Amino acid sequence: MRKILFVCLGNICRSPLAEGIALHLVKEQGIKNIVIDSAGTANYHVNEAPDHRTTSNALKHGIDLSSLRARQFKKGDFDAFDEIYVMDENNLKNALKLAETNSHKEKLKLLLSIGDFGRLDVPDPYYGTENDFEKVFQLVYKAIKELINVKN
Ligand code: 4NP
Repeated sequence: MRKILFVCLGNICRSPLAEGIALHLVKEQGIKNIVIDSAGTANYHVNEAPDHRTTSNALKHGIDLSSLRARQFKKGDFDAFDEIYVMDENNLKNALKLAETNSHKEKLKLLLSIGDFGRLDVPDPYYGTENDFEKVFQLVYKAIKELINVKN
């Protein structure tokens, strides 16, 4: 069983998008035995649905995020998940503060460190334009395909 958690700041833009894309590709590929979730290092948007700009952009690509709700990243996530992919350096630093053991620390990685995407941070689109949301989609989609080993 592979247990994967995606982490950003608010859990309303980047990490729920990563979760939704992963769930979509896993279903499309018929992959079983995988748990996928997302969380934010901040508590600003707890229980909220993803940002409407993320939701509408994802829907254009056939990915429905409407059932997802924001939650805050917590210490217990280190035991509940094997792989924790963080969207940027700032959130990686904040997530590391909650890690109590080396094995917890080792679970944390930048999502874009798993391949060559020309950058390491998924940029925060919150104060950006529609085009920024599309750029985030393309970047996260590529990374998730790599992560779950989709060939084509
Ligand atoms: P996310 O984007 O971390 O990708 O969900 C953000 C969401 C909310 C805020 C910042 C970034 N905020 O400042 O409320």
